[in-house]
Amino acid sequence: MKRLFISIALSLAVLSPARADEGMWLPVLISQRIADMQAKGCRLTAEDIYSVNKASLKDAIVLFGSGCTGEIISDQGLLFTNHHCGYSFIQKHSNVEHDYLKDGFWAMGRDEELPNPGLTVSFLERMEDVTDIILEGITEEVEPAERDSLVKVRSAKLVSEASAKGKGLSARVEALYYGNQYFLFVYKIYRDIRLVGAPPSSIGKFGGDTDNWMWPRHTGDFSIFRIYAGKDNEPAEYSKDNVPFRPKKSLRISLAGVSDGDFTFVYGCPGTTREYVLSDEVRYVSEVSDPAKIALRTQRLAIQKKYMSQDQAVRIKYSSKQANVANAWKKWQGESKGIRKMNTVAGKQEYEARFDEWAGGTGYEGLTRKMHRLYSEREPFFLAYEYYNETVRAIEILNFASAIHSRLRNKDAKDGYAGAFFKDYYQPIDEEIFTAMMEGFGEGVSKGLLPNYYTDKLQEYGSVEAWKKDLFSKSLFTDRDKVLALGPDDKAIVETDPAYEMFDAFRKWFETYIKPVVDRLNKEINLANRQYMKGQMEFNKEKVFYPDANLTLRVAYGHVEGYSPADGAWYKPVSTLKGIIEKDNPDIFDYDIPQKLRDLYAKGGLDGQPVCFLATNHTTGGNSGSPVLNADGDLIGINFDRVWEGTMSDYVFDPEVCRNVSLDVRYLLFNISRIGNASYLFKEMKFTGGSIKKYR
Ligand code: ARG
Ligand code: GLU
Repeated sequence: MKRLFISIALSLAVLSPARADEGMWLPVLISQRIADMQAKGCRLTAEDIYSVNKASLKDAIVLFGSGCTGEIISDQGLLFTNHHCGYSFIQKHSNVEHDYLKDGFWAMGRDEELPNPGLTVSFLERMEDVTDIILEGITEEVEPAERDSLVKVRSAKLVSEASAKGKGLSARVEALYYGNQYFLFVYKIYRDIRLVGAPPSSIGKFGGDTDNWMWPRHTGDFSIFRIYAGKDNEPAEYSKDNVPFRPKKSLRISLAGVSDGDFTFVYGCPGTTREYVLSDEVRYVSEVSDPAKIALRTQRLAIQKKYMSQDQAVRIKYSSKQANVANAWKKWQGESKGIRKMNTVAGKQEYEARFDEWAGGTGYEGLTRKMHRLYSEREPFFLAYEYYNETVRAIEILNFASAIHSRLRNKDAKDGYAGAFFKDYYQPIDEEIFTAMMEGFGEGVSKGLLPNYYTDKLQEYGSVEAWKKDLFSKSLFTDRDKVLALGPDDKAIVETDPAYEMFDAFRKWFETYIKPVVDRLNKEINLANRQYMKGQMEFNKEKVFYPDANLTLRVAYGHVEGYSPADGAWYKPVSTLKGIIEKDNPDIFDYDIPQKLRDLYAKGGLDGQPVCFLATNHTTGGNSGSPVLNADGDLIGINFDRVWEGTMSDYVFDPEVCRNVSLDVRYLLFNISRIGNASYLFKEMKFTGGSIKKYR
């Protein structure tokens, strides 16, 4: 008994209940956190944050597109999100005559707002615990396959009932805690979303990849949209007769600003976290997967960069590709470093040993052992899986050949695709990447799993380099005219092309030998995780758990605070326009600000203009665009990043260095007025904590 007590006390000390600011809480259960929030400075009630009976803050938050968050800031459907969340839509409206990415875009009235086919925003109508319905009568004895099918059927029924209740409704049942709990989420989806404003990229993406995941940060990462609805205020397809959506709730904007220590919370849709998994998974990520993927991407980035710096046209072609490759590359570096620094693997192993000791004689006996076996069985296959994605899928010509193959019967689709491909293609880059990736593939994938196609080719040519030369000299996919000339009946030509042939051989290998094994083991691991999660909750009764992120609406709370990135250094939590001017350099693309901003600054008085701030809120990908709110629930900022030293927070949260990075909403207002000359938009916003006059 005594030993049990000690082990519980110890386990609490290691995986202690959400010290400080860890946690992404379900809004519907926020009443369980509200006392803690209030003790830390919050002046709201649980009902202010989430209610189904009256308008609450949740009614001003949306899932923007399929992976970002947005917030409503006027009673006429005006919405803020990040520039990088609106980026692809801004790009679609851009061409040589009006390059909105480069110059920014500002509608000067409703008639100038630009529609964005395909873009949706989803409001959460309600969330509801449906565990009892979904799991009714399902005991531990029920076979996993049968359980799955029962869960599926019951979920489908709940979803169809909930969706049928109104226009534009869409429902989902989501598993929380790996299937120990189920919640029904009912969304209302609006489809007529128009672009209202965006700063030039030299503001909205200021700092580019150089500053990405970093502090001090000076990015004006925002864009502005408006939701339109039918005359009945319900969702409707785009129509010029649609009217601005009238929300149940919109956020007030605080002009009071932030100071060190202020209470803040982030209300949004975090994508994925894995806080409760076994040490095996964390070890794999930090010691195997992240380092392997980082090494491959380091090569790709260097190759692209070399050609980009030699030629302006190539720089433009590859800037967006480079940004995509660099984003996760940098994040993984912080993640694996952070996990090592926190000693998370060893910490989890100790915890698991205590869990095992406790589990003796319970239904959880032997569980972790079984899981270790599953993880080790999965590892070589999962690594091959990841190598396939990072190497084969990184060779542009292979993916292009496959895309053309599937579009052969539709000439417009095929030609459109080919046009877009060649607009941004530079063959010398692809050739060098081919060589680097195929060499990396051979070194990284375990010998027994290598595709025969791969070993045969190496044997045939003697080197990857020779193989590459032959492929690029023979493939028609390097030649725009030849691709455009392909007709619907030219399947045989495509299928005997070496690029298509190679892609197809790798894909078949992947789909036959790799993916099915990974899928099967993942399923078993998930099942075991459900038990392990349940076991942990019984083992660790004092701990307050929060469900891992799954792109459902959450509240994270913390406070404004700097951090120490390294011995001897302390980062202050607030950045200002002065720092933009310090970084400004017309010769460095990432730091070349608009002349207009230089001129404004030169007039004086803008040194203190706030730009970004740091806080301790627990966020992850998907929280981009999320409102950062003050103690009264007023908007003070827009979340857009984390600092890279803290990106291990998807697995383990370190209150010392995990910081979310937000745009100060006052810099957004400054941009609307001074850069966009669009201060007419202020008329529909509600301000607190100061006068907007200063920004007009
Ligand atoms: N790191 C931020 C988020 O991931 C911003 C990404 C966009 N910016 C960029 N420079 N790639 O995922
Ligand atoms: N930029 C990220 C996003 O797009 C947020 C950064 C993060 O916390 O991962 O969601």
